[in-house]
Amino acid sequence: MIKWTKKKEQQLLKLRDTGKSYADIADELGITIGSAKHKYIRLMQVRNESKYHHPIEKTEQILKYVDFSKVKRVYETFAGHGNLSTIYAKYAKVVGIDNNKTKVDFCNSIRGVTCIKDDSYRNIYKQILDGKRYDLIDIDGYCYPSRFFPHIFLLLNKGYLIFTFPKIGVQKCHAVYKLHYATFYGIHDTLAPYKDKVVEAVQRYGMMNFRVAKLINYTRIDRIDRFIFWVERKSSLDITGLKVKGINY
Ligand SMILES: C[S@@+](CC[C@H](N)C(=O)[O-])C[C@H]1O[C@@H](n2cnc3c(N)ncnc32)[C@H](O)[C@@H]1O
Repeated sequence: MIKWTKKKEQQLLKLRDTGKSYADIADELGITIGSAKHKYIRLMQVRNESKYHHPIEKTEQILKYVDFSKVKRVYETFAGHGNLSTIYAKYAKVVGIDNNKTKVDFCNSIRGVTCIKDDSYRNIYKQILDGKRYDLIDIDGYCYPSRFFPHIFLLLNKGYLIFTFPKIGVQKCHAVYKLHYATFYGIHDTLAPYKDKVVEAVQRYGMMNFRVAKLINYTRIDRIDRFIFWVERKSSLDITGLKVKGINY
């Protein structure tokens, strides 16, 4: 695996700007073609290039599958350039999190959005400690949503859970990714279809907090998948059908 430096990133951007192929760039920088391509796309995402961020496709999916009459409060763990905050703020109050001050300042200029500069993986614990509840949570990071499970469900009594899931197999599937897929999703064959495994895993994580998660939509967009679940908190007795005298019969 290559360790990227600012200097190497600049070289990559410059070479790509001059029209070099990923193969030529890989040759010149002494890296693999996959590495060159993956890094270039990541840098373009950071620049909010639509071609790599897909705000239009994400928005279309949200508007088609989310019933906003049920949504008053939104929690967005990676608010970024505010592409999704702008949509959510038309219907609800939005709490956004991002660790980049410029992006946070921008999101705070959107009416209806309160954006906090923080690490999303830590901020969620604060939300839980403060007893917050949301009607829609969107996890649109560059990486997998795995580290939010299962505790994210504590913020949802009845609402939507939406997340981005980078397609498996797009980036080089090295040992760390393989361990990640196996640990969080029970995926052992990274070449086989994986959607159902992800759905099962999310439903299992929901159940750990007595939430029933139902898949509403799954959309594949270029290098990412977007999952939308409807989540409801249920009592353990309702879930299991167990009858307890004096309590539910
Ligand atoms: C894919 S972008 C989000 C795009 C955003 N949903 C939009 O529609 O504009 C991911 C964002 O996560 C932010 N980020 C990366 N790691 C983070 C972390 N640990 N905590 C908070 N924000 C983070 C980056 O600054 C970036 O803006």
